[in-house]
Amino acid sequence: MDERVDSFQKVDDVFYPTAETLEHARIKDYDAAYKESIRDRLVFWENAARELEWFSPWTRVLEWNYPWAKWYVGATCNITHNCLDRHLTSGRKNKVALIWVGEDNTERFFTYGELYRQVSRCANALKALGIRKSDRVAIYLPKIPEQTIAMLACARVGAIHTVVYSGFSAPALASRLEDSQPRLIITADVGYDRGKVIPLKPVVDDAVANSPFIETVVVVRREKGGPALSGPKELDWEDWLKREAPSCPAEVMDAEDPLYFLYTSGTTGKPKGVQHVHGGYMVGTYLTTKIVFDLTDDDIYFCVADPGWVTGHSYIVYGPLLNGATILMAEGKPDYPNPGRWWQLIERYGVTIFYTTPTAIRLLMKYGEEWPKKYDLSSLRILGSVGEPINPEAWRWYHRVTGSKLPIMDTWWQTETGMILVTPLACTKQKPGSAARPFLGIEADVVDREGKSLPPNTGGFAVITSPWPAMMRTIYKDPERYKVYWNTIPGCYTAGDVCRKDDDGYFFFMGRADDVIKVAGNRIGTAEVESALVSHQAVAEAAVIGKPHKTAGESIKAFIILKQRFQESPELIQALKDHVKHELGKIAVPHEIEIVTGLPKTRSGKIMRRVLKAKELGQNPGDISTLEE
Ligand code: WT7
Repeated sequence: MDERVDSFQKVDDVFYPTAETLEHARIKDYDAAYKESIRDRLVFWENAARELEWFSPWTRVLEWNYPWAKWYVGATCNITHNCLDRHLTSGRKNKVALIWVGEDNTERFFTYGELYRQVSRCANALKALGIRKSDRVAIYLPKIPEQTIAMLACARVGAIHTVVYSGFSAPALASRLEDSQPRLIITADVGYDRGKVIPLKPVVDDAVANSPFIETVVVVRREKGGPALSGPKELDWEDWLKREAPSCPAEVMDAEDPLYFLYTSGTTGKPKGVQHVHGGYMVGTYLTTKIVFDLTDDDIYFCVADPGWVTGHSYIVYGPLLNGATILMAEGKPDYPNPGRWWQLIERYGVTIFYTTPTAIRLLMKYGEEWPKKYDLSSLRILGSVGEPINPEAWRWYHRVTGSKLPIMDTWWQTETGMILVTPLACTKQKPGSAARPFLGIEADVVDREGKSLPPNTGGFAVITSPWPAMMRTIYKDPERYKVYWNTIPGCYTAGDVCRKDDDGYFFFMGRADDVIKVAGNRIGTAEVESALVSHQAVAEAAVIGKPHKTAGESIKAFIILKQRFQESPELIQALKDHVKHELGKIAVPHEIEIVTGLPKTRSGKIMRRVLKAKELGQNPGDISTLEE
């Protein structure tokens, strides 16, 4: 890890909440609420848990056996009981839970009652296949309601879902299947992207060919005359659910039973299966959704993430449903069919809470203010941003085009943390580019390598100094890799981010300290791209770095040493890009490839990406005493 930070953005403007925002805000005084929450964190998290329904109570709120945590010890629950059943008797039975809109404007509406029935049908269908507690189920679907239904149905029967983003290629999917060993995979014939049909079933066919543990492939068929299915292993989603009863009791789960694995990139080539559980994850996503977005029953909540990533898990599916919210889910890109798309949806559905990413904002900025100006955005109340640091220029644009009065929740968190940890609240003042302060009940700091708290305006590592309910419990099949998070800096959970706090204690996150690149907010490990590159016959060695990019935040640059008999050519460069696309998927393809004859290495042979990066960006490479030549 490397904490060197080359430039501090200087931010002078501060934005205060309007009277209207404050009036609505659940928490009116952050400092008082925060102080109270950490006076006794366990009481705070116990009170939060009491807002939800449990089948039987806990004996202890936390059992902390460093670095292993158990929350709500001994309690039983099922997260879907709180996402669905709880609302059937609370007056929300006929409230709309989910509005789905396709690229072609097809609409589908699900009330809480209907969602309960669909999830139950799917849960019964899972049971009919013999899927039960602790079995794994892979979900490789585009952003359609069936994705949500399948996730909830798995949780309902106690199966562990592992959602794989539908942009991943067959080998990337296969390696995730290999690790999680699911008995079933649920997919679709196609996805749609900017009007193009993206076939998914062939990707699954490829991946499943080498996955003997997969017993069944369920296919949601969206195209007329789509692919023929070959039974009995392949089932049509509709046929699969048709005869199932529309009610299914939720399996009684221990609070610590796994809910899902979600694979994410780290510093080695192998993705990590981050494991979350029913109990603590439920409490953490419930409370953060409620407080951070200041959610009330009449909100229309629109989060643009894909449930293939953690934002979709926590803040499209679980958090909002736990709160009984109305969720708008839209398939497609922000600039298709035109750059007014999301603003149009906000107007059409009266969206009040809008949660997006810095990359999307920068993309929309390029098209200009005339697009948001065409639409009535007056329903909006709260804005959000996630996935990467938001640069002040993009922050100000987002703020201005939505009426110069809305608070922007710049929420900092990770796949591993499960829930938002550092964020503004509706009542806090806002500083462009800052994720503000720790969420209630969360203790965060900026420290040096030894774990010593750093003074204001000093760059260091972002850490969390005590456990929280939605934290990952382990890395599937790799507890040693889990321990690294808590062992890197003594006594703390190390996130891998470089950060500073200002004089107000406001956190300014400045990017990753490790070999993780954030391309459009998606996490890509340099090692994964490198190993994909060296698997090409022409490549002897590869080193990959992230470079600042105007819209995507970062772009990928690869330095390649070719094997002797190969010559540099535009065709070869293209072939290398295609190869990475085939191995990992479009999101991991290097934007630039440079053929070199040597790479900077340490005496022990490790590539010094930091030196490559400094050279590429014309910066001082810092300490190079370990450099071999
Ligand atoms: C990494 C986690 C959080 C859900 C989506 C991404 C970066 C995330 C922010 C933010 C600055 C941010 C960090 C973090 N990040 N949100 N508001 N400000 N950086 O989850 O793929 O697990 O990535 O995203 O570098 O470590 P993820």
